[in-house]
Amino acid sequence: MSDYKEKFEKMRVAGKLAAQTLDMLTANIKEGISTDYIDKLGYEFIRDHGGYSAPLYYRGFTKSLCTSLNHVVCHGIPSDRILRDGDAINVDVTAIVDEHYGDTSRMFSIGNTSVKLNNLIDTTYESMMRAIKILKPGIRLGDIGYEIQSFVEEKGFSVVRDFCGHGISTTFHEPPNILHYGSKNSGMELRPGMTFTIEPMINAGKFPVKMLNDGWTAVTKDKSLSVQFEHTLGITENGYEIFTESAKGFSKPPYL
Ligand code: MF3
Ligand code: CO
Ligand code: CO
Repeated sequence: MSDYKEKFEKMRVAGKLAAQTLDMLTANIKEGISTDYIDKLGYEFIRDHGGYSAPLYYRGFTKSLCTSLNHVVCHGIPSDRILRDGDAINVDVTAIVDEHYGDTSRMFSIGNTSVKLNNLIDTTYESMMRAIKILKPGIRLGDIGYEIQSFVEEKGFSVVRDFCGHGISTTFHEPPNILHYGSKNSGMELRPGMTFTIEPMINAGKFPVKMLNDGWTAVTKDKSLSVQFEHTLGITENGYEIFTESAKGFSKPPYL
């Protein structure tokens, strides 16, 4: 029963710092700033609160967080790119505290974004939350994927296949893979104590992605918009706990 209590306590601390970092960034992400500036703010905040940024030097990644703009699906590298009116950006923060990882991302809208983009953002967020709400021991991984895929495809959007959620605890990425598509009643059964992410990447167009030459940036092959949200979660005796919830109630844009 309590063999995962200490692990959950540490996941809570790491998750909270990652979420707090996004909360802090919310007031700072606006037209005219660069994605490098977001990286600098995130790096300093995590360092000053007793943590480390997991992406920095991870498999050769050179920045402290990921900034994925518009048609970038994931793993966008912070740069001198300036945010402008109409942009949508995903910021993905992973903090390590006391050897445990908290991994979370949210979207930010810059100025006036299109109705289609707003709809994609709402749909992606809701797909993640729908999948989270069914979590409890005994359901299967395929149920998670089914929940996301059925909701998203009904709206005419598509689920990225080439990237998935992942187990996470004292390592950044560990088994099992959490696919964001699938069929009910298939795959591994969830049990208390499991900790993993759900992080659907949803495209306005088709699901295929293409890698850029930097070896990290994944973009939609058809250049359509792509949106993502991510939470780190744990399975409890009769449900779940979200480790990366915002203490400020920030879930999706607009952040008022
Ligand atoms: N945070 C990403 C995830 O959700 C992984 C980023 S790895 C990096 O799994 F090296 F690109 F930062
Ligand atoms: Co992740
Ligand atoms: Co992440």
